[in-house]
Amino acid sequence: MIGRNSDILITGGNGNLGRLVAQKFLGQGRRVIKFDVPGTESDHVQENEVVVNGDVRDAQVLEDLIKKYKPDMILHLASLLSGSSEADLSVAWDVNATSSFNLLKLAHENKVRQFFFASTIATYGAVEIDPMPGNYPQWPENLYGVTKVAVERLGVYFKRRHGLDFRCLRFPLVLSPYAPKTAVTAFPSHAIAAAIEGESFVFPVSPQTGVSTIFLEDVVDGIVLYNQASAESLTQHVYNLDAYYLSADLIAREISKRFADFNYTFELIKAVDQMIAGWPGEVNDHDARADWGWTPKFDLTRSVDRVIELIKE
Ligand SMILES: NC(=O)c1ccc[n+]([C@@H]2O[C@H](COP(=O)([O-])OP(=O)(O)OC[C@H]3O[C@@H](n4cnc5c(N)ncnc54)[C@H](O)[C@@H]3O)[C@@H](O)[C@H]2O)c1
Repeated sequence: MIGRNSDILITGGNGNLGRLVAQKFLGQGRRVIKFDVPGTESDHVQENEVVVNGDVRDAQVLEDLIKKYKPDMILHLASLLSGSSEADLSVAWDVNATSSFNLLKLAHENKVRQFFFASTIATYGAVEIDPMPGNYPQWPENLYGVTKVAVERLGVYFKRRHGLDFRCLRFPLVLSPYAPKTAVTAFPSHAIAAAIEGESFVFPVSPQTGVSTIFLEDVVDGIVLYNQASAESLTQHVYNLDAYYLSADLIAREISKRFADFNYTFELIKAVDQMIAGWPGEVNDHDARADWGWTPKFDLTRSVDRVIELIKE
C-alpha cells in the first residue's frame, strides 16, 4: 500500500495530457489530485482520485491545496497554449509565468520533493539547423514560448539553489484526437477529424510546412517514465523529445490512403505558416534516450491509425 506522502498533484489535470497522465498514476495505485478550472472535470470520480476546481492564478488556493494534500510530486501542466496566449498577453503571463513561479516557490517552501513542468519546442523560435541540437539557443517568437523559457529557468534556479528535484520536457507538436478546435497549430489532428466526418479540410499552411511531431500516448508514457527515473540517471535539467517529421502534405497523403474521398486544399495563414515552418523538423533527443530510456512507440502510420481509432471511440 502506497502511503499518503506519495500523492501527486496535477495542475491542468483535466486537460488533454493531464487526465491521461493521471490515469497512468491511478493505475499504479497512486493517489492523484487533479486541479483544473471549473467545468472541465468529468462526472465520474475514480478511486484514489481527488478533483479540485480552481484557478492557478490564485496563490492562496495553491497554498491551501499543497498544505492540505502534502503532495510528494507536482506535475504542472496547467497552461494557456500558443493561440490563446497571443490573444491575451496579460492573462497568458499570469497563468503561465506568475502562477508557475508561485507554485515553484510553494513547492520549495512546503518541501515537495519533485516538480515536473511541461515545456515546448516553441521555446526555440526559428531554428536553422535540422536536426536541432539539444543545446540550441532559445529565443522564442511567441509569448507562449517566452513564458515557457522563463519557467524552465525558474525551475532550474529552484533546483540548483534550493534542491527541488525540478524536471522538464520539451514536447514537439502533439498529434492528439482531443486537440481543441481553436488550436490552429493542431491542423494535422483537425484534418483527420474532418476526414472521419466526411468533411473537406483547409490546411492553414503550405504543403511543405512541417514540424517535429509526437503522438499523444507517447508523450503520456514519456512523462510517467521520466518522472520515475532516478535523479542520479539524469544528466540534463530539461530534455527534448522527438518522434517523427510531419508536414501538411504528408498528413494529407496519409489520410487519403485511408479515406479515398478526403477533399483538401491549402489556404495559407501567413502567421501560422511562418511559426510552424520556423520550428525544427527534427530534434536531437539523444539525451532522453540515453539517460532514462525514452523511445517513442508510434511512427506516423501508427499514430494516424490510433488517432482514427480514438476519435471513432
Ligand atoms: N498539446 C501540445 O501540442 C503541447 C506541446 C508542447 C507542450 N504542451 C504543454 O503540455 C501541457 C498540457 O497541454 P495539453 O495539451 O494537455 O493542453 P490542454 O489545454 O488540454 O490542458 C491544459 C489544462 O490547463 C487548464 N488551465 C488553463 N488555465 C488554467 C487556470 N488558470 N487554472 C487552472 N487550470 C488552467 C485547462 O483547463 C486545461 O485543462 C501544457 O503546459 C502545454 O503547454 C502541450
